[in-house]
Amino acid sequence: MLDRLQKKWKVSGLQLFLILCTFALGGSMCGYLTRLLIEPMHIENALLYGTLYFVILTLLWPLCVLAVSIPFGQLAFFKNYLRKIASRLALNKKENVEEDDDMIPIAIFASGSGSNALKMMEYFKDHPKIKIVLLVSNKPGSGALHHAANFGISTLIIEKEAFLKGDAYLPELESAGIKFIILAGFLWKIPGALIKAFPQKIINIHPALLPDYGGKGMYGLHVHKAVLEAGESESGITIHFVDDHYDHGATIFQAFCSVQLNDTPETLAVRVLALEHAHFPKVAEQIILDAFE
Ligand code: GRF
Repeated sequence: MLDRLQKKWKVSGLQLFLILCTFALGGSMCGYLTRLLIEPMHIENALLYGTLYFVILTLLWPLCVLAVSIPFGQLAFFKNYLRKIASRLALNKKENVEEDDDMIPIAIFASGSGSNALKMMEYFKDHPKIKIVLLVSNKPGSGALHHAANFGISTLIIEKEAFLKGDAYLPELESAGIKFIILAGFLWKIPGALIKAFPQKIINIHPALLPDYGGKGMYGLHVHKAVLEAGESESGITIHFVDDHYDHGATIFQAFCSVQLNDTPETLAVRVLALEHAHFPKVAEQIILDAFE
């Protein structure tokens, strides 16, 4: 049962433990505070007592779990959890649906720390036309998933075997209404069936000037190490459409930075990542708007 919860909530074992502690302590605190509020009223009627107890308990419960979640480091999870309950109760649903009709729903795929995914979430937060509705990751507990929870964005954890088969996750993408996919540090090769389902609607960012320093195994510090070993004086970023080969589709945009004599792969990575953060959201926005004009 714990396994199922872990899968459902897409959390690590430790995080599940902290969440369960928050539920337990938050629940007890809520019961205690409710009694504290009701006892001084000296209500004799059992029905009235029970009704009042239930109402106060229901109102206090979210506040108690949120308060307890802070010391357990689970505020992001509980904010997202409560938001989901609220939307299931259809509190704000009507307005959202009307407002969302004109939006282009997009998904971000990210495997790692998700700094680019975070920039996208910040950039598109109140965008009038584009909405990030899904964060897809192959890494439970990744930074990208954490950012999604903070922004109230739904998440989907995928498994390698099913993903590489091709269309295993198409139903999920379709039911979320996804029209465009941004790969922001996603390490698996995109299967042909997915590319077919989203023709010219999947883009990727690579931390070098393609066509050089791309392809299988060219990710993270490997890229910057290769650039330094080749004695390049310049590096940069490439944003490109995704096709059947790693880092291969048509280039959309490049930005450049200098390579310095005393650079290490780490220092070069910092300069390149800053370029990614500065350009990727704006370039993605333009491509998406052009695609759906
Ligand atoms: C970036 O360098 C990007 O170019 C590459 O993966 C990295 C992701 O970094 N495709 P982050 O997880 O967004 O920080």
